[in-house]
Amino acid sequence: MCGIVGYIGNRSAIEPVIEGLKALEYRGYDSAGISIIDKNNAKLIKTAGRVERLSEELSGLKESYGLAIGHTRWATHGSPTKANAHPHTNSKGNIFVVHNGIIENYQDLKQFLIKKGYRFKSNTDTEVIPQLIDYHLGKTKIFLEAFKQTLRELRGAYAIAAAYQDDPRNVYVAKLSSPLVIGVGKHEHIVASDISALGSDTKKVFYLEDYELAVVSSDSLRIHDYKKSMDITKNPENIQVDSKETSLGDFPHYMLKEIFESPQTVQSAIVGRIKPNENIVKLGGLESVANQLQYIDRIIIVACGTSYYAGLVGEYLIEEVAGIPVEVQLASEFKYRKEPLSRSTVVIAISQSGETADTIAALNKVEDYGILRLGIVNSVGSTIARMTDAGVYCHAGPEKSVASTKAFIAQVTVLAEIALYLSNGNSSLYKPVVNELVNVPTKITEILRQSEKIKKIALKYSKYRDFLFIGRGYMYPCALEGALKLKEVSYIHAEGYAAGEMKHGPLAMIERNFPTLALLPNGNLFEKTISNLEEIHSRKGPIIAIHSQKSRVQMNIEDSIEIPETIEQLQPLLFATVLQLFSYYIAVDKKLDVDKPRNLAKSVTVE
Ligand code: G6P
Repeated sequence: MCGIVGYIGNRSAIEPVIEGLKALEYRGYDSAGISIIDKNNAKLIKTAGRVERLSEELSGLKESYGLAIGHTRWATHGSPTKANAHPHTNSKGNIFVVHNGIIENYQDLKQFLIKKGYRFKSNTDTEVIPQLIDYHLGKTKIFLEAFKQTLRELRGAYAIAAAYQDDPRNVYVAKLSSPLVIGVGKHEHIVASDISALGSDTKKVFYLEDYELAVVSSDSLRIHDYKKSMDITKNPENIQVDSKETSLGDFPHYMLKEIFESPQTVQSAIVGRIKPNENIVKLGGLESVANQLQYIDRIIIVACGTSYYAGLVGEYLIEEVAGIPVEVQLASEFKYRKEPLSRSTVVIAISQSGETADTIAALNKVEDYGILRLGIVNSVGSTIARMTDAGVYCHAGPEKSVASTKAFIAQVTVLAEIALYLSNGNSSLYKPVVNELVNVPTKITEILRQSEKIKKIALKYSKYRDFLFIGRGYMYPCALEGALKLKEVSYIHAEGYAAGEMKHGPLAMIERNFPTLALLPNGNLFEKTISNLEEIHSRKGPIIAIHSQKSRVQMNIEDSIEIPETIEQLQPLLFATVLQLFSYYIAVDKKLDVDKPRNLAKSVTVE
């Protein structure tokens, strides 16, 4: 989604800002812009296209600029045009603002400003910010005071970077419910909405908290809480971003690269945590709350998108292995739901990015309930990782493709570990799951070796317009996730269904142009799922079955993919890999932008 990068320092500001914006491109955006400022000189360049276009337009500049703020915009209010791209300015054009989030009361503010004689050039909510700063500046004459007063009048969510042509030595930033970090360099600071935009040389960072603003210059930094009207002292934290992990290497797309990283992903999620020889599951991130976890009797998992489907797998796992009732709720629903919550409930937020606005809002909802809040997060140091009481990191490494693949694998692996941990070793499944988890990386590798075969089958189906994914038990959430993956990257209409529900509706759609992808592992639900396949088969619906050696289909179906045997509780890790490859190859065949599907964003930072 939207990205912010700003620079103030003793080298040319353009390069770090453009590089930072490029590093944020994977999150999805549709327009970009930059303001560059130096003594008596300011320029504003925007494009309804890519960051590369900005870079080209800037290449002819002779002067050096010590301050720049840049932005990649994912349209919310107003279409993705040049006029709506950030930075936005006041009418005089000497105040520049980039903004992530949504200003919920922008209509009221706009009406107020229009009455005061202000004219607007864009359809965005953001434009009220520089105009309002201008209004207050007219009264206070001090930019910082005008900035503070403006922040106090904004409602909604925001990360803001602002610059004033008459004050080219400072960048002003603030945040509320949207991340903002300040990277510390030598005689320079880089402000950004994500640490990945800070560049590999930046090793220290300040995380701004809600209601904090900072006045950032080359060599100094002042942080101020504008709600409590007091200055804040804090120390920078160390960051580690491995740039090797984020390059494409020999892969044509990040999605494929990340699917192929799955064996390593599982390995990284279990290393040091699962010790089959000692029959131990050790989750250091939960140690500080181990006592509290003894007394819980209900778990609510909140998440969005693929993380939500990982949560549904977790529901089966935790209930079966640890015997604790689990409910999985879409974060966007949970935050508005009025339900009774007791102190023996734990809320677990699952998030790859750790920055999803709805998931953050769900956690905020229970902040004052005295409820334990845990996180299963991939992005180290992200908002959700910092706001939860404890948690378990996924350690999947950066995920760049908008469609989540290896993060799902990591989340399910961590959920299996949490299920084992919460069972206190008292489950008959404890030993089998611990023992089998260490075999999963090799089994996923075996599936990846079949990628050419999966590709061939996928290409056969790339012209279909509709798809059904079905499964029972652990395979039901996998069917939902498989359908989501296909929708996201190939724009084919796909639905995931519990196989047992076919007769209650979806069967009506089945005919020769409506293929079904059946998830058919070995287990006690095999025969029941086969009966569902018979019903589809007799209505001429094409079937692709994913199965193991012990769950081969005897019917004459169109296609089948055989994968290694594993225990029921870990089957999602293997089946999901096939589904990810299947969607990937269809999207490539349709010549779509696999890593950046239309209309979607990697990190959804607005509610
Ligand atoms: C977006 C992404 C999905 C992701 C979802 C939740 O929609 O495109 O891939 O599953 O957000 O994101 P999170 O970072 O919270 O897991």
